[in-house]
Amino acid sequence: MEIISNPTPGEIKWAAKALIDGHLVAFPTETVYGLGADASNEKAVSRIYSVKERPTGHPLIVHISSIKQLESWAKEMPDYAIQLAKEFWPGPMTLILKKSALAKDFITGGQDTVGLRVPAHPVAQELLAAFERFGGSGIAAPSANRFGAVSATSSDDVIDEIGNLLLSDDVVIDGGRTPVGIESTIVDCTRKRPLILRPGSVTPSMIQEVKEIYLGTEKMKSTVRASGSMKTHYSPNARVYLVGKVLHGDGFIALSKVPTPKGSIRLAAPNTIEEFANILYQAFRAADKRKIRRVRVVPPKGSGLALAIRDRLNKAAQSE
Ligand code: TXA
Ligand code: MG
Repeated sequence: MEIISNPTPGEIKWAAKALIDGHLVAFPTETVYGLGADASNEKAVSRIYSVKERPTGHPLIVHISSIKQLESWAKEMPDYAIQLAKEFWPGPMTLILKKSALAKDFITGGQDTVGLRVPAHPVAQELLAAFERFGGSGIAAPSANRFGAVSATSSDDVIDEIGNLLLSDDVVIDGGRTPVGIESTIVDCTRKRPLILRPGSVTPSMIQEVKEIYLGTEKMKSTVRASGSMKTHYSPNARVYLVGKVLHGDGFIALSKVPTPKGSIRLAAPNTIEEFANILYQAFRAADKRKIRRVRVVPPKGSGLALAIRDRLNKAAQSE
């Protein structure tokens, strides 16, 4: 595996060529690191599944350089989907749309929909632009972690998670810590109104300002499969509790205004909700590195990004 830090345009071009040649490239996006492969290359895409130990049948998000590529990958798009794309792309939002012929079963997990996203991170943007100049048309990229584990928010995390499974021609691009820190908002655009399948930093009220939405809830079962909606997701090895009695040696994560309970190990004290999202997975990883067995988290209150944080915390806390 080749690691590129603070990549130059020439190095990004070289990484884009590696994708074209069927190798894997881990790269930063504004949300989390992605493990990329040429979305039209079945063999390359199948390596994503084996490296992540991800069960086949879990669809991958295809990353595209701009809204112009939408029509290559999707069809029968509702007007509101175009409106959302115009409003929030490039950015941390994935749209689920009816797939075109270009989106093969090995990308969509055999479903008739495809997930699409235009990432805003400058490295991801440059990689996509270079990849398209070489004739590529989309980079399939799940989060660059083992299946069920916490997403990678730095290149060190990527290397810890999957470094030993990458081959000599694969590339890891180090673009620093990811600014958002949790995965994109996923919006199902196959219905009359948009439905949020996975909350993220594009919040319900931001979407509401553009279009009336349905809010996805546990009760409102969607027919689409999202592995992020499985219970065993986003969890560290430590057991996560949304507070309860804090015992000696427990890890503790809460907003900075919440004092550290006696005997606990403060893993993070974010000042804001944005900082909370940014630091959460790093704090989970720190707990595992320190072999802490229980992590107590005080979930942030409120709507918006706090909702997305609580979604990930609930999943982490439910994991066995
Ligand atoms: O922020 C993100 O979305 C990151 C960065 C790398 O872009 N990617 C990411 O990918 O989180 P992944 O594979 O870890 O999570 C994507 C989620 C999965 O739960 C997958 O099942 C769902 O999106 N998904 C992808 N395509 C879908 C589709 N056609 N229908 C329903 N869900 C889909
Ligand atoms: Mg993931």
